[in-house]
Amino acid sequence: MTERLFLTTIAACASLTVPAKDILVNTPNTSLLLKAEGGQPLHISYYGERIDDINQVYAAYSLWEPAYPAFAGGGSNSYALSVKHADGNMSTELIYLEDKQTTEANSTLYIISMKDKAYDLLVDVCYRAYNNSDVIETWTEIHNQEKKPVTLLKYASGFLPLRRGNAWVSHQHGTWGAEAYIYEEPLQNGMFEVCESNGARNAFSSRANIMISLDGKPRENEGRVVGAVLCWSGPYRFSIDTPDQSEHHLTVGINEANSAYTLKKGESFTTPPLALSYSTEGMGGVSRSYHRWARLNNKVHNGTATRKILLNSWEGVYLNVSQDGMEKMMDGIRDLGGELFVMDDGWFGNKYRRTRDNCALGDWVTDTLKLPHGIPALEKAATERGLKWGIWIEPEMTNTQSELYETHPDWVICHPNRTPVTGRGGTQLILDMSNPKVQDFVFDVVDRLMKETPNTYYMKWDANFDIANFGSHHLTADNQSHLYVDYHRGLTKTLERIRAKYPDLVLQCCASGGGRVNYGLMPFFDEFWVSDNTDAQQRLFIQWGTSMFFPSCAMAQHVSASPNHQTGRVIPLKFRFDVAMTGRLGMEMKPEDLTEKELAYAKNAVATYKEIRPIIQQGNQYRILSPYDKTGYASELYITDDKSEAVFFAYKFEHYLNQARPRFLFAGLNPDATYRLTELCRNGNADHWEGHTFTGKFLMQQGVEIALNGLFASKVIRLTKQ
Ligand code: DGJ
Repeated sequence: MTERLFLTTIAACASLTVPAKDILVNTPNTSLLLKAEGGQPLHISYYGERIDDINQVYAAYSLWEPAYPAFAGGGSNSYALSVKHADGNMSTELIYLEDKQTTEANSTLYIISMKDKAYDLLVDVCYRAYNNSDVIETWTEIHNQEKKPVTLLKYASGFLPLRRGNAWVSHQHGTWGAEAYIYEEPLQNGMFEVCESNGARNAFSSRANIMISLDGKPRENEGRVVGAVLCWSGPYRFSIDTPDQSEHHLTVGINEANSAYTLKKGESFTTPPLALSYSTEGMGGVSRSYHRWARLNNKVHNGTATRKILLNSWEGVYLNVSQDGMEKMMDGIRDLGGELFVMDDGWFGNKYRRTRDNCALGDWVTDTLKLPHGIPALEKAATERGLKWGIWIEPEMTNTQSELYETHPDWVICHPNRTPVTGRGGTQLILDMSNPKVQDFVFDVVDRLMKETPNTYYMKWDANFDIANFGSHHLTADNQSHLYVDYHRGLTKTLERIRAKYPDLVLQCCASGGGRVNYGLMPFFDEFWVSDNTDAQQRLFIQWGTSMFFPSCAMAQHVSASPNHQTGRVIPLKFRFDVAMTGRLGMEMKPEDLTEKELAYAKNAVATYKEIRPIIQQGNQYRILSPYDKTGYASELYITDDKSEAVFFAYKFEHYLNQARPRFLFAGLNPDATYRLTELCRNGNADHWEGHTFTGKFLMQQGVEIALNGLFASKVIRLTKQ
């Protein structure tokens, strides 16, 4: 008898055989408490600060909600699962069967098996609690053991009830060039939702991440905050239902709209993980937990590796790539001390040449009119200069003007009875990643480049269109509604293959800028392009928002030309560097356009960044003065785990005569330690505190005066423990 059949058989008498038990899911500083009882739904009664005496929770009369409520299953109006059973019944009543715990390298896995009372539908509710960060992932595995197909109408990853209070939600919204802006609002009666249905670039407008501050208006470094992140690259839905006076119900998962998913007899469906975090140290505490979780557990590929300083060709030459032009840029970044050169869009196409952005995607052959010696010659030129080599691709896409589309019109996403709506250039289309032949093709784009130029160190993987035409030539008529899910499963499968063969290739995740900043894809990508907007003033807001959930080592931040190409704003080079330095530093311009004085400044800034990059890329971030607070100032700090080395950044990005000068307080320091302050990349007079020592306590309570005069003034201060 299989294990599953056995479970089914014992289900009927589960209430007699399975005693009630408490399942305490712990991270170093947080706990989630579940109660499992035979014949009953699994209940959740607590999520918050770590508790070791669970009796307190029950004695206080805490939450008592199903941990994974199902539609019409009794108990809760909110539901995470809705199933149409083989006989047409729409209701599901899940009861607890058994649970098991497994110790893993950095975590403990809890699997709690449940079954419908009357149907052979089994659901494993899973929790993975990390011991190196305060994050608990939850997801479900849904198994159809019924005699015929069942249809999943809603299949959320997780559910979390929260005790009602003065709770506020922080969520993120944006558009091209203005990603990840933060919006905050109180949670009131009724339904609050963040949901997305774009298809391929799920971070383009809203983001699959929220925070809920439980003690009033969100604060950076104080107050109890819950974080929720869906590790999925496709459409998603975050719902917070506030149905009554005592609770908020958070349900998070794949957006079920237009995505009913049918499971044949014997098939299973695994939902993507929902990563929960909780902190008493405000939003900053939750951010630091996610950063740590991502870096230490490969939620960002190779999260602990040092990221190299690069020059990307895009804003320097756009599509006009040439051997000479690339070599000049290589010279430029080499002279500044950079480590990597990346050739962006424009290098490919034969019948249709990529001289404009309306053709050739899919035709991944070198344009020998632009690059007569091919890609290996460019890699050689980079190596000769002591640089690593990188290249741009957009493998999931094609254009109506391409040889690929002419050969395989059925590979694009579009129903056969429809004329496709096109994207960029009036011709762009997206390939159908649910189709294994397309998956092979996309794998080959990377594989062929790697075979041709084996020392390729880096690839920028772009994606500039959505699933704007719904319909698959590959999926059967019955399964058209699987497209959103199967697209992302196909993409994930392809990335798994690429990673299995090329674990060390550095991959950047790009989608018209930050359109794919999500933890569904980041386990395969070392970094992401934060935004196509490289204006340092606006970047302060975009990077601030992005850092709420993503670590600095993954954030590609480039110094570009002035006036800025997106906004026309003129910003001094120092400010541009100081803003870009809080992530993975790079440049996106022709260095030859800089003056001698600017080149000298840039060279020093690159050398300085090399010194402080371990603190920034692997340190803990404390956001302090928020640019969103409309003072015209911003500040933040990065500090090593042992609190011995820190770097503080202060910016002034507005200027008016009655502007109040803020207190520059530090955060996250060891109060008892003494730190020496030194300004880095100084281009003016030294401030009073230069070279002096202060206790961490003084710096956090009193701070120091920082002379930021005029518009676009900034300072970088190194703190060294004495
Ligand atoms: C969009 C990206 O965000 C840009 O950085 C650049 O790579 C272009 N695509 C190239 O077409």
